Amino acid sequence: MKFSSVLSTVALLFISKSLAITWEEADAKAREWCADLTNEEKISIITGRENMTGVCVGSIDPIERKGFKGLCLQDGPAGVRFGKGTATSWQASINSAATFDRTLLRKVGEAQGNEFYQRGINFALAPSVGIQRAPASGRIWESYGEDPFYVGECGTEVVKGIQSQGVIATSKHFVGNDQENNRGASTSNIPEQALWEVYLAPFYRLVNDAETNAIMSSYNAVNGTYTSENKRLLTDILKDKMGFQGMVMSDWWGLYRIDSFGAGLDMNMPGGKYWGPDYVGDSFWGEHIQEYIDQGIFTQERLDDAALRVIRALFKAGQMENFPEVNLYVDTLTEENIALNRKVGADSNVLLKNDESVLPIKGVKKIAVIGKDSMPANFCEDMRCADGTLALGWGSGTTDFKYVIDPLSAITERAKKDNIEVVSSGEDNSEAGAEVAKDADLAIVFVQADSGEEYITVEGNAGDRLNLDLWHGGNELIDAVASVNKNTIVVIHAPGPVNVPFLDKVKGVVFAGMPGQESGHAIADVLFGDVNPSGHLPYTWAPREDYPTDVKYEPEYPDGGEKMTVYDYNEGLFVGYRWFDKQGIEPTFAFGYGLSYTTFEYSNLEAVMEEDGLHVTLTVTNTGDVAGAAVPMIFLSFPDIVKDYPSRLFKGFDKVMLEAGESKQVNIIVDNHDLSYYDVDAEKFVKPEEGEYTVFAGSNARDLPLKTTVLANGECNSDEEVSGNVENDEDSVDEVDAETENAEDSADEVDSEVDAENAEDSVDETALKKRAYKLY
Ligand code: NOJ
Repeated sequence: MKFSSVLSTVALLFISKSLAITWEEADAKAREWCADLTNEEKISIITGRENMTGVCVGSIDPIERKGFKGLCLQDGPAGVRFGKGTATSWQASINSAATFDRTLLRKVGEAQGNEFYQRGINFALAPSVGIQRAPASGRIWESYGEDPFYVGECGTEVVKGIQSQGVIATSKHFVGNDQENNRGASTSNIPEQALWEVYLAPFYRLVNDAETNAIMSSYNAVNGTYTSENKRLLTDILKDKMGFQGMVMSDWWGLYRIDSFGAGLDMNMPGGKYWGPDYVGDSFWGEHIQEYIDQGIFTQERLDDAALRVIRALFKAGQMENFPEVNLYVDTLTEENIALNRKVGADSNVLLKNDESVLPIKGVKKIAVIGKDSMPANFCEDMRCADGTLALGWGSGTTDFKYVIDPLSAITERAKKDNIEVVSSGEDNSEAGAEVAKDADLAIVFVQADSGEEYITVEGNAGDRLNLDLWHGGNELIDAVASVNKNTIVVIHAPGPVNVPFLDKVKGVVFAGMPGQESGHAIADVLFGDVNPSGHLPYTWAPREDYPTDVKYEPEYPDGGEKMTVYDYNEGLFVGYRWFDKQGIEPTFAFGYGLSYTTFEYSNLEAVMEEDGLHVTLTVTNTGDVAGAAVPMIFLSFPDIVKDYPSRLFKGFDKVMLEAGESKQVNIIVDNHDLSYYDVDAEKFVKPEEGEYTVFAGSNARDLPLKTTVLANGECNSDEEVSGNVENDEDSVDEVDAETENAEDSADEVDSEVDAENAEDSVDETALKKRAYKLY
């Protein structure tokens, strides 16, 4: 580890430790601090005032008498928004998810948190933990995919990372904003069990495991009542049942009536009734809260509680003692942040196809790089254009880029090292593309599709994508190139699945997602084999009509009104891979799919039920010629007494770096909460005590070669069945012992600092998984 890294690690530890106060301690401090507040001051703490006229996207006024400096709230999930190029433009969250690497996710949270901290931003408006239930949904790149367990795991790491820096993470959007069309005039009608197990599930983890200090309500209604005024969701479920001690703010202009205050919303953002400076000071809340208290409609306790929750969250974060002044343009574009963005970008590349090991690039003299997506990007405000390489989608989840490394420059630079000539056609022009491709040894076609937030329409797409096709004639461009060059590789920049009619015509496909500012370097790292790809899809990839659900394109209705677009979540628990399993539909690429330049084998699956959950062990072996990282995945079938349930649920994973030929044992604990289902009649989570769980292990939702069973009551199962190659399993036991030593010896050799830390941290992570759980 470099000396500077040691110092920063020590500094981080110091910060995390100094902030580690409990909610009880924060509560006591907050009560004392709030004791002499007037109602006017309490109302000012909970009602945004500038209505987006200042440098922060949301602000709370200071109270000079109390030495309270006011609050600054700023987007977002890809780092600090509106930083005019001073902050890192990180990869999209869906790319972080594709790494399946908790250590990296934590590091991203820490690094982002630090950038917010240095600017005096009290609340980072991130992470987003929505569920990808429809592939065309505009903001899927801002969250972590389709699986509630996995989205919760990613969000937990990011929240812990952000909050370790003294910045409050605002987990959003609570809940059911899983599509953009009419988000402010729509109802997500979610059946009760799915509400708990799919859509509330990530928030449960963020509240209980990550102690997120803040949550943002969503624009939409759930089952007919807008979430910002939904007492059941905000008060009965989030605060009472889940025990959330922090504060809930509205999404921007996402509260439509004063009733929201009575329902349990604690902060009105940005404060004005509608968009625009005309509404500064003109709020549904503000002085109207006092009027309603005077009329006996709201209680004084509700106001006391809302103000207390805000101040308690600030004490919990350590912000009441000491916090930097707001300065949005501090330069935080450090070498470390740039390197981490590049690392996550590279590790999030998902190798979808690699026939005849066409990648990594080797033994070639001339490469053709084709497509506008390989070229420098034009930075339009909030990324409202798709012009040049696509590094992030559009809307509040994007950032002001200082630069994007375009793929053509990065490939050209890297190719020089190997004396490879690079020719290019930087347009989406089939004839020109075919012309440069025809004499090259290898042709790489860069293509894209984009999506974003509803308030911006790009090329006819009002947030949600109109279709899953590549933009700008991408399919035609690929066809033209593939017809003249038998070694064609496609690189896709997109928020999620796209139609791939070209799949059989090309040798290689890399899905690069939205990698942020270091985009070109990240893809060159993988194309040239400097980094062995280890990204996996955090969602199922299939033709649009195969998914259980879709977005809608209804005409616009007024936000917060009675006329709503109805999104029926009829698929219930069967979101993503669970639906494909149930219907027996073969996806194009399964949840968890992702190739490597090496191969892995899984063996020795064992599972034991213990008091704190299910302890699973298995062995993963690198059976190829080069070092690489495997992501062993655990899926569970629940005991038969749990009816109408998905046949398999994703419940555990790890990321393991392995030298060629090396084996390692992986330990995964599925905690008791994850062994439970929501019993709608009993209105609580129940862990089955009868029957057996079946444990599946392998590399993705459709490649699970190992299987064993374990009795729910923890007794030994006499009929234990192990599929997979039993002989092979036995043979490899000795090898595992030998190779484990080997692994320790070679830890120093791992070239990247992050990989080395990764190996160390995964031990900690296992300990972390032994967490407390509540079955409420
Ligand atoms: C609306 C978005 O939905 C939310 O995610 C964001 O934080 C706010 N705007 C503020 O920009």
